[in-house]
Parts: sequence; structure tokens; C-alpha cells
Amino acid sequence: MRLKDVFVRMLSERGIETISTNIERILESDDVIQMMAVWIANGKANVCRGHKGVAFDLNGNRIDAQAQAFVGSCEDAMLTREELLREAENEFFPYIVIDCSFYDRHIEKEKRKLLLQISQTLGVVRKFMWDEKLIVTALDCGIGVYYPSTAEFIKEKGIKDIILLDPFGEEVFEGQKAECYIIGGIVDKVGNKTGWTSKLGNMLKKDGIEFRSMRILLRGDIIGVPDRLNTIAEIILRVVLDGEDVESAIRRVQSRLVARWRLRKELPKLTVRIDVKERPFRVVRKSDFGKFDWLNIKREDFYEVCSELGYIVLDDEALEEIVKSAEWDERKGRFVIDV
Ligand SMILES: C[S@@+](CC[C@H](N)C(=O)[O-])C[C@H]1O[C@@H](n2cnc3c(N)ncnc32)[C@H](O)[C@@H]1O
Repeated sequence: MRLKDVFVRMLSERGIETISTNIERILESDDVIQMMAVWIANGKANVCRGHKGVAFDLNGNRIDAQAQAFVGSCEDAMLTREELLREAENEFFPYIVIDCSFYDRHIEKEKRKLLLQISQTLGVVRKFMWDEKLIVTALDCGIGVYYPSTAEFIKEKGIKDIILLDPFGEEVFEGQKAECYIIGGIVDKVGNKTGWTSKLGNMLKKDGIEFRSMRILLRGDIIGVPDRLNTIAEIILRVVLDGEDVESAIRRVQSRLVARWRLRKELPKLTVRIDVKERPFRVVRKSDFGKFDWLNIKREDFYEVCSELGYIVLDDEALEEIVKSAEWDERKGRFVIDV
């Protein structure tokens, strides 16, 4: 469930089936109804009687008619922030915490990337929930709700059920729900920051915070899981709020670059080794491309990665012909052609 589902339910209960707005930022959004709900939850608008601007049905389809209500400002609101948030409290909407305790240990370029990713995470949070659900700790950057430390936030809210997203986490994330998901405000561009998320975990333990640490895996491996903060937040929210499975959520946010990294790891397992006059070749079947529908790759990525790895791509029939005319060398584990 996203915030818009609570909003739509409340509108329907009030007999409102069409809604309008003239707020440009809402109209520019890909998901107008969710953005209306975000504006209300953020205290920037209410639902008011009458029509203003562009009208939509509650599925977000534009309609050519006067709407029954509009999102904007008015004196006698039909639905306010307080009412929407009271209703949302009965549903599951977790906090996303970005812990920036290591901000100062990044170089300038990484700091800029970190800020960009935090602002993109706010964009992700708005797709599902509203601004107060994004907490940024140890860095007052003007995005999300600032707390001096993650421990302080958790203690103040009395949160008990916490998951630290850590590539070296003890458990595998399979959609476990928690009141709060912590993501490390870490950008890996320069130097070796391996294990820094676990260090954040150690700091939390010292502050008396108990949590579960979980790693996100794609078919048993961390390679192919995007590691930008916004993509991690989107994977979590797609799984725990939309009910998607982890693999499809990863695929939705996986860039082709990240998908190619995983392809590089998978392809060697599929090659057929053939020695031609003692020169070793590794061959991949053209049809093997079809085995990677779980990665965000296009056919050209498949050919490019094969070529980078020095593999030859052959039609399945051509490879069968070659294999038929070759001898199998058990000791070397490869086919051999001597002529
Ligand atoms: C760029 S990663 C930094 C990882 C860091 N180098 C480390 O080894 O701990 C930024 C954050 O994304 C989250 N993250 C990235 N990949 C993850 C994965 N496969 N599983 C769980 N969390 C992940 C973690 O919260 C991490 O702190």
C-alpha cells in the first residue's frame, strides 16, 4: 500500500470520485494522485470543495470535466493533513534512515554524489510515502528530517523493530518488515570503504540499539544489486509496500551497467571450451542471451560483454556442428580440433 491508496480510500468515503488541482509541481508528476497525497501529508495543501485546474479520476487518468474537489488551499477543507496522517498511521509505512556518520570521510566529489543520492531518495520516498518518512542523521543537509544521530532518532521515537541494510549483513533480505530501515550514507568511489556499514552497526550497538542486519542478494550474489542509496530504498519499498518479490524489485531499478557486471560473472559458467590446433577458444551460444531475462541487459550488452571477455558467440547449430567434429579431452575438460 502507498500513501495514495489511503488518500483514495478517504476520498471515496467522502463521495469524491474526481479531483483536480492547479499546482504545477503536482501536475508535472508521473503519479498525480500520489503527489496530491504527498502535498497534503506535507501540510502544503488540503482537499477543498469545487474545481480548479486539471481534473482526474481516482486512478490518475485525466478527465475532461469539472471535478468534485480540488487540492489546494481553502478555509473549510474536506480533508486535511491531520486526518490523512491519522488514517495512514493505521497502515504500515516504515522510516527510511540514511546514516551519514561517515560524511566527513568522503572526498568532495563523493560528498556531492551522496547529497544527490539523498535527494533522489527523497524522490523515492515521495513515490510511496511522504517527506517525514525520510530521516537523515549526522548531516543537516536540508533534505528529509534531520537528527544528530540514528540512535537519538530511534530512542526518541521508541522504535523497536529495526533493519540495517548491510551488504555484509547476517541475514538475507526477503521482504521482512520493520518500523525502520537504515541505509549507510556511504558512496564507494575512492579508496576502500568495505565494511563501513557494519561499522555503523557497531556504533548503534554501542549506543544500546538492537537491530537485525540484512543483505540484499540477487540469485545468491551481491553482484548485480545496485548500491546507490535511492535504489536500495526503492527495492525495500517496492518489496514491503507494493509486495513485489526482491528479484523483480532489483530488476526495476538495476542500471544496464550494474546488470553487465553480473553478466560478466555469469557468462564464464556457460562457455564451451574448444582448442583449435592447441589455441584455446571459449564459445557462447547465441541462445544463451535468453537465459538472462532476470538482468536488465539488451542483446548489444550481451555481445559487448562476450567480446570484452574474448568469447566467440555462435549460432547454436554451428556450435553443435563444431562439437560433433571435435574430440572431447576428458583431462583438459574441453573439445579439441587438430585439423
Ligand atoms: C554504496 S553502499 C556502501 C557499502 C560499503 N562499502 C560497505 O561495504 O559497507 C551504500 C549503502 O547501501 C546499502 N547497500 C548497498 N548494497 C547493499 C546490499 N547488497 N545489501 C544491503 N544493503 C546494501 C547499505 O546500507 C550501504 O551502507
